[in-house]
Amino acid sequence: MLEVKDMVVAYGRVNAVKGITFEVGAGQIVTMLGTNGAGKSTTLRAISGLLKLVSGEIWFEGERLDGVAAHRVVQRGIAQSPEGRRLFPKMSVEDNLRLGAYARKDPSGVKKDMDNVYDLFPVLGERRQQPAGLFSGGEQQMLAIGRAMMSRPKLLMLDEPSMGLSPIMTQTIMRTIRELRDEGVTILLVEQNAQAALSLADKGYVLEVGQIMFSDSGRNLLGDDRVKRAYLGAD
Ligand SMILES: Nc1ncnc2c1ncn2[C@@H]1O[C@H](COP(=O)(O)OP(=O)(O)OP(=O)(O)O)[C@@H](O)[C@H]1O
Ligand SMILES: [Mg+2]
Repeated sequence: MLEVKDMVVAYGRVNAVKGITFEVGAGQIVTMLGTNGAGKSTTLRAISGLLKLVSGEIWFEGERLDGVAAHRVVQRGIAQSPEGRRLFPKMSVEDNLRLGAYARKDPSGVKKDMDNVYDLFPVLGERRQQPAGLFSGGEQQMLAIGRAMMSRPKLLMLDEPSMGLSPIMTQTIMRTIRELRDEGVTILLVEQNAQAALSLADKGYVLEVGQIMFSDSGRNLLGDDRVKRAYLGAD
C-alpha cells in the first residue's frame, strides 16, 4: 500500500532521514521504533506532504505520493495524528473533530464517525463543547487520534500516541489501534513504547540516526537482543 524508497529528507543542509526504504502492506500494523532524533517524525511529515524529499520516492496504492500537497495527501486517504497533538486550543472538541473531516462530503457518515470517537473516548463526548485547550495532556492525545480518524483514512499514521498517557489509557489506545486495523484501516505506528507497539505490529523497523538498522516481524523483534537492550530496558 505504501512504499518508501531511498528517501532522504533534510532540514536546511542537514539530512535527518538518510535514505530509508520500507513498506506498509494493506491491512497491516507496521511500527517504527527509534531513539530521540532518529527521524521518525520527519518520516511521517514527509509522507504527509509537509516536508519535501531531497531524493527518493514515496508510492501509495501504486501512485506517486512525493510532491503531492498535504491537503491532497489527506484526500488520497492518509491521515496523521501528529506528535505533540497540534490541536486548536480555543476550538471545542466537536469543532476540532469536524476539522479532521473537512475534506468529506458525507455529513451522515461524519456524524456516525464522530459518535464512534465519543464511544471510544467518553470524556470527549461528555465535554464536547469545551475548548480543547482545557483538556489534560492525555485527553488531548485522545482528541488528536480522534481527529485523525475523522477523515476516515485508509492509512492512519500515529506519532507516539501513548505519549503522556497512563498505562490504562495506553492499553485503550493500543486496543483502539487493533480495532481500527480489524475494520480495515492500515496503521503506521511510531512509538517509544516498544513493548506495546511490537505486541500489535505485523512488522517493525528500527531507525537510528536517519537510517533503518534492521526490521523483522513484531514477534521476532520483541525477542531480539538489540531491541531488548535499546528499547525494553533489559541488560
Ligand atoms: N524543524 C526542524 N529544523 C531542524 N532540525 C530538525 C527539525 N525537526 C527535527 N529536526 C532534527 O531532525 C532529526 C530528526 O528529528 P525527528 O523529529 O524526526 O526525530 P524523532 O525520531 O521523531 O525523535 P523523537 O523520538 O524525539 O520524537 C533530529 O536531529 C532533529 O533535531
Ligand atoms: Mg518524533
